[in-house]
Parts: sequence; structure tokens; C-alpha cells
Amino acid sequence: MLAGFQNVTFEFGARAIIEDSTWHIHPNERIGLIGYNGTGKSTLLKLLVGEYQPSKGEVIRSRNTSIGYLHQDLLSFDTNESILQVALGAFEKVLLLEKEIEELGIQLEKNHEDEALLHLYSDKLHEMDTLDGYNIHHKTEEILQGLGFANADLQRPYKEFSGGWRMRVLLAKMILQQPDLLLLDEPTNHLDLPSIEWLEKYLLHYQGSVVIVSHDRWFLDRMVTKIVEVFPCQGK
Ligand SMILES: Nc1ncnc2c1ncn2[C@@H]1O[C@H](COP(=O)(O)OP(=O)(O)OP(=O)(O)O)[C@@H](O)[C@H]1O
Ligand SMILES: [Mg+2]
Repeated sequence: MLAGFQNVTFEFGARAIIEDSTWHIHPNERIGLIGYNGTGKSTLLKLLVGEYQPSKGEVIRSRNTSIGYLHQDLLSFDTNESILQVALGAFEKVLLLEKEIEELGIQLEKNHEDEALLHLYSDKLHEMDTLDGYNIHHKTEEILQGLGFANADLQRPYKEFSGGWRMRVLLAKMILQQPDLLLLDEPTNHLDLPSIEWLEKYLLHYQGSVVIVSHDRWFLDRMVTKIVEVFPCQGK
């Protein structure tokens, strides 16, 4: 199991949203999470990622499971960084390593006989190779272009873009992170048709598990193989 609930209860104040719920998400599952407005779908995802804590029961996340979570609250995030930089943020480790290598290179120019420094430098280069770190710029550009960005756009600041285009940047970043479990809360709301088509193609080849909240039946029909329905708690 990748993640899930064991007898989870969650309330907002006195109002129960989820009562004694057990849900196990397994590898390679493609789940559509449906239910009427306000029944608690978004809340369920927030419990899964640990943004909310249950009042009873346990939220299970295997320690090695990486989760990508796409939702609309992300759109309020603002930055002067270019969209290329934002998407490249997916490669936090490699970017740090790039910096270290650059700094070590400068130091080595000054003391090229320092054996310890040389060793460190060659270790870092090796690590970069293992992480496939030399390709991140190429990969990122490719995905952004796939999502409809022109080459000239890649250096423009993220904050200049509208909601729909920001969503594409965040989607690109999440895809580049290659998480084991994707949680998509109404992903098609801010995307235009070509981007939805692109996302569909991507999801069909995606190896991990995915939970999609959507009111779009046609999209769900194509994307998922299992439906989980959320009902209002009894008597509420
Ligand atoms: N921070 C909060 N404090 C109090 N109540 C909240 C809070 N967030 C959501 N709720 C309420 O909890 C219920 C579940 O909300 P949630 O957003 O999970 O529903 P949803 O199924 O995702 O709905 P939609 O289909 O409209 O996105 C709703 O009735 C909502 O009004
Ligand atoms: Mg919601």
C-alpha cells in the first residue's frame, strides 16, 4: 500500500466531514474520487498529504512514497522567478549539486593541486551523473513546450501569467518530480483543451498511482479504473 486511511474521522468544528473511513491506495491504481460539492473530496486529499490531522484513526503514508499534489490554492503562489526556474524547482537536489560543483570548480582553479578538493569534485560529478542531473534543463524545456509554452516564454516571470498558464507550470513541475502517487484536485478546471489532451496522454503512460477529483465524467471515464465516492456523513 502506498498511502491511505485506517478508521479516520475528521471534523470541522462540530461538523463531521469524514467518519470512520478506511481507504487503501495501492501501487498502479487509478482512482476517480467523486461526490457532490462540499462532501469532503478536497479535505480527503489534504488529510492524505498531512495538511490536516484526523481526530481519530490513522493516515498511513509509506515513508518512501513521494506524493505530488495539484490543487487550486497553489495558484495564489506568486514569484518573480521565470517559469523555467519554477519548473526546474522539481530538481531541488540537482540544483544544489550544480551550485556546489560550480563553487568547487572556482576553488580548484585557485588550488589545482589540492587532492582532497579534487576528490570531492570528482565525487560530486559522479553524483550528478547518477542523478541524471545533466539533462534537467532539457527535460524541463521539453515538458513546458509540450504544455504549450513558446520558447520565448520560458524566461518570462511566472507572475505575469494567468491562472491557466500557471497551472500548466505547476503541472510541469509536478510531473518532473515523478512522484509515486499523484493527487489531482479538479485538474481540468484551469486547463484548456490542448493541455487537457496533453495531460491525458501523460496520465495514460504514468506508472505510479493517481487519485483524480473531477466532476468531468468524460475525463474520468478515460483516466481511471476505479471510482471512490464520498457521501455526506449520516444525519449531517
Ligand atoms: N477550513 C474549513 N473550515 C470549515 N469548514 C470547511 C473548511 N474547508 C472546507 N470546509 C467545509 O467542509 C466541507 C467539505 O469541503 P471540501 O472542500 O472538502 O468539499 P469538496 O467535496 O472538495 O467540494 P467541491 O466539490 O465543491 O470542491 C464543505 O462543506 C466545506 O464548506
Ligand atoms: Mg474540492
